[in-house]
Amino acid sequence: MHTLYIKTYGCQMNEYDSTRMVELLAASHGLRVVDDPAAADLLLLNTCSIREKAEDKVYTQLGFWRPLKERNPDLIIGVGGCVASQEGMRLRRRAPFVDLVFGPQTLHRLPDMLDAALASRQPQVDVDFPFLEKFDHLPERPGQNGPSAFVTIMEGCDKFCTFCVVPHTRGREYSRPMPDIIREVRSLVGQGVREITLLGQNVNAYRGATGLIGEAGLAELLERLARIPGLLRLRYTTSHPNDLDDALIAAHGSIPTLAPHLHLPVQSGSDRILKRMHRKHQVASYLEKIDKLRAARPDIRFSSDFIVGFPGETDADFAATMDLIAAVRFDQSYSFKYSPRPGTPALKLKDAVPEAVKEERLAILQGRINALAQEYAQAMLGTRQEVLVTGPSRRDARELTGKTGCNRSVNFAGPAVLSGQMVLVEITETMPNSLRARWSGDLLPADAVEPRGFAHARA
Ligand code: 5AD
Ligand code: SF4
Repeated sequence: MHTLYIKTYGCQMNEYDSTRMVELLAASHGLRVVDDPAAADLLLLNTCSIREKAEDKVYTQLGFWRPLKERNPDLIIGVGGCVASQEGMRLRRRAPFVDLVFGPQTLHRLPDMLDAALASRQPQVDVDFPFLEKFDHLPERPGQNGPSAFVTIMEGCDKFCTFCVVPHTRGREYSRPMPDIIREVRSLVGQGVREITLLGQNVNAYRGATGLIGEAGLAELLERLARIPGLLRLRYTTSHPNDLDDALIAAHGSIPTLAPHLHLPVQSGSDRILKRMHRKHQVASYLEKIDKLRAARPDIRFSSDFIVGFPGETDADFAATMDLIAAVRFDQSYSFKYSPRPGTPALKLKDAVPEAVKEERLAILQGRINALAQEYAQAMLGTRQEVLVTGPSRRDARELTGKTGCNRSVNFAGPAVLSGQMVLVEITETMPNSLRARWSGDLLPADAVEPRGFAHARA
């Protein structure tokens, strides 16, 4: 067994898990990633079940891989992630040629499962929730490519929104101890990483052992990470409004390396729908947090997730969501049509919204969000922005590409040695999905704190 092909669906947590699977199997079995499934000895599918027809997508993909297995009976096929967790043994029944089924919490057992499958030629299914175990069994992270990295700091979710499979597939909340996270971040920064995004399904519910006495929350973890020399930018995603406490809000004001952007999903602007979603927050409490964050960090921008067409959503409820968008002026958000998910309480709710209405609402909402994103981009013209240079631009290798603090892609002409550095550029042009800029020769040293030029106006 020499080669591995991996396909990943879904969220950043899944991307992170896939990276760790590759690292794990490289360490345990010396496997090397190939980009052609036909050239692989092991095929892995890391699945996501958050929205629409996720299971169908998995079975379709497995259907494409089946002939490879028929041609090469030694090929091992594994399915991991949330669909695996949700389907368990059912997956084996529908796709008997699958050898390994593992959940998001058991990926660290992959090398042992692989050995067992190779030795016994019997399928291996392990979709437990063995908290604590996963992170203790992952190897130290080897060479990084690029100045940006993700670090999972907590797993699972205890919120049980009625539409969401996450608490069912990823399990209850579990936070990694702070010293482990700090060690991982230090090691990444030592390898040239300059920006860290802390990941968790409900990341601001983080409460981890401090290493001294007791536990502390995300604000304290951010403060400790911000002290690591060479770490220039911190982000965290994704958050629930109720877990955004005053300490975390204050951290946005006091930690300059914390990016001036927060993804704070609201889902709906109608209290009636929020209640049916079991979100446990109201529009007013959400707006209050937004105001406090803006007071702490005036240049902060917000993005959100929205669900349209949740059962029972009327025209008035949808109008309330549009009002909330106007009030907050979100930038670059994600929006989805509600899709019923297996095992979730919302399945029992009456008054399903017709598909055509969902589509119409989604188009209206996305049109407004895109218009706001363009307004923000226009307002950035002529401002100076901190950009972390990720490497040469994909379109034109003579150009560099990077990300602003508010998470926008920027392209500009500059020497290749700037890759991995934080620079100051002036925004010169807006494109549909990116910005163009001019670099005037300024590098940002690790401890520089620039006044950010973009003032936010509440509509
Ligand atoms: N239908 C539509 N969107 C969903 N999301 C989660 N579950 C569903 C569902 N059943 C969206 C939410 C969440 C994001 C990650 O995916 O907006 O914040
Ligand atoms: Fe799902 Fe997020 Fe709600 Fe948790 S807080 S149940 S992950 S939508």
